[in-house]
Amino acid sequence: MRTQVAIIGAGPSGLLLGQLLHKAGIDAVILERQSGDYVLSRIRAGVLEQVTTDLLDEAGVGARMHAEGLVHSGFDLLFQETRHHINLQALTGGKQVMVYGQTEVTRDLMAARAAAGLPTIYEASKVTVHDFDGAQPYVLYEKDGQQQRLDCDFIAGCDGFHGVCRASVPAGAITEYEKVYPFGWLGLLADTPPVHHELIYANSSRGFALCSQRSATRSRYYLQVPLTDKAEAWSDEAFWQELRMRLDPEARETLVTGPSLEKSIAPLRSFVTEPMRFGRMFLAGDAAHIVPPTGAKGLNLAATDVKYLSMAFIEYYLERSSAGVDHYSQRCLQRIWKGERFSWWFTSLMHRFPDEGAIGQKLQEAELAYLVQSQAASTVLAENYVGLPL
Ligand code: APR
Ligand code: PHB
Repeated sequence: MRTQVAIIGAGPSGLLLGQLLHKAGIDAVILERQSGDYVLSRIRAGVLEQVTTDLLDEAGVGARMHAEGLVHSGFDLLFQETRHHINLQALTGGKQVMVYGQTEVTRDLMAARAAAGLPTIYEASKVTVHDFDGAQPYVLYEKDGQQQRLDCDFIAGCDGFHGVCRASVPAGAITEYEKVYPFGWLGLLADTPPVHHELIYANSSRGFALCSQRSATRSRYYLQVPLTDKAEAWSDEAFWQELRMRLDPEARETLVTGPSLEKSIAPLRSFVTEPMRFGRMFLAGDAAHIVPPTGAKGLNLAATDVKYLSMAFIEYYLERSSAGVDHYSQRCLQRIWKGERFSWWFTSLMHRFPDEGAIGQKLQEAELAYLVQSQAASTVLAENYVGLPL
């Protein structure tokens, strides 16, 4: 089999790239290790920047997002038992964010690809990438026990943090930057009405908590927990009890609890690969970078990688220009590092760091007090949260 672009991974990055290339008349085949149901079973963050919602519209998959997504003009910062509103819309000259689960974004992209009859090979095992530093790259994989070969012009590594593409780059050709945080996020999904109409980010002496949502009837909550904790060791009641202790009196009062639909613990890390291009293979999304979820940047950074990569391929095929592919890595990394910095800063401000002691909490509370009192400081937070301009 032959195609112009072999996309490895059918997460948001791979599916969005496939959709944008299809719109431009460029052929792509997606190879995905898991089943479609498995991909959809992964619960991930759900705050979309305007740049991302515009890109989903450009890809022709924005209708349900606009119908069912929740447009938020701000969020609350909670510390010392008091909530402070960050008015994103006022601080950024009108920008807002869209709260719409990544699972739904993936579902919309999968449906559009299937409706267009585009080739996605699910449960493709033993995927390996070859000759991407030459002129004729190809991919080998197994499907139903049969080995297959996919010849292509380019390989798009959209296969996430644990994928095969970055792992196939010779060690001397890549630099990896990593910071692992000394705690995790215990997430709980429940069919209960959200505690507040917007998100609440809480810094408490017991640890970070986040009150998020998926709809008017489905809530998503997170608690900072030690890395040694296991999700199965947390009963629903223990979760709700701990969450209450990290909230303010009003939220404690209005919190509606219920049985969990899903509970899981995710580690937090900052990670960046430089460069993101290796001959005819390009990394995009989590394959190239990871952010701690505090700033909800993961999907948004992946979306802009895909925007730049789709533009580069369109320039190559339609305008016979290599400028886009030659500048892809540099263009992405300029934005990625700003997203990494914001995510690290917000994580450092809102979480308990075991080895920083009581003074760590006092210094965080002082920064938070300054932040909510200073228009300049709140503006810096707001413009990073809604997403920096392209
Ligand atoms: N062969 C084929 N597919 C693979 C392989 C492989 N060797 N390794 C991984 N994959 C698939 C995974 O099963 C997954 O479906 O690649 C896909 C990668 O998807 P994501 O991990 O979701 O990464 P990405 O598409 O870049 O989306 C980034 O997802 O993880 C969140 O917070 C992150 O919001 C961000 C978004
Ligand atoms: C989520 O809804 O999962 C979510 C929202 C905002 C974040 C992180 C996660 O900053």
